[in-house]
Amino acid sequence: MDFYETIRRRRSVRRYSDQPVPEEAITRCLEAARLAPSWRNGQPWRFIVVRDRNTIRRLTRANWGAGAINLWLKDAPVLVVACADPRPSGLKGDQPYYLVDVAIALEHLVLAATAEGLGTCWIGGFSEEKVREILGIPPHIRVVAMTPLGYPADEKGLYDRLAVVGKRQTRRLSLQEIVRYEKW
Ligand SMILES: Cc1cc2nc3c(=O)[nH]c(=O)nc-3n(C[C@H](O)[C@H](O)[C@H](O)COP(=O)(O)O)c2cc1C
Repeated sequence: MDFYETIRRRRSVRRYSDQPVPEEAITRCLEAARLAPSWRNGQPWRFIVVRDRNTIRRLTRANWGAGAINLWLKDAPVLVVACADPRPSGLKGDQPYYLVDVAIALEHLVLAATAEGLGTCWIGGFSEEKVREILGIPPHIRVVAMTPLGYPADEKGLYDRLAVVGKRQTRRLSLQEIVRYEKW
């Protein structure tokens, strides 16, 4: 798929088909994440690939309080949890670089998934503590984000339909609104 076509095609997918996701496709997506740039090449990202349906359901239920909106996640065939080991990372002022690094790597994974015909949805609404507990993540590792990985269902789910009807959820600002040339 052409690069710009990949960028245009990516959207948040909140309903998945039962079609299994080939192991090789998951590996190619992880490989795309592995090649991402990072501050001082610290590569603080660590990924947990969750395929066990029961674990995915437990994660969804456990996150009810933090991300009630993400209940649809329970039917995702695969969940990739993006974590960070902050130790090799540094600070830019008060901003930790590991968040930037993991975000870049996860977006590489998301775009690779799009090129594979797979759907994703960046998930920020979860309880780090509960995810940590269920997946046995050690205390020094931070949980930054997660995304389901799977073939989009033929029909959009309720949450996707709401996002599109709501427009606010998918509309983008124009270039005129976000770009300045030479100075602010
Ligand atoms: C940092 C971040 C956190 C997000 N958290 C959630 C989330 O918890 N649940 C969800 O359904 N979508 C979540 N999203 C997806 C956004 O709602 C979505 O990207 C945005 O509405 C634009 O729509 P699009 O991805 O379909 O283009 C998140 C996106 C980002 C970048």
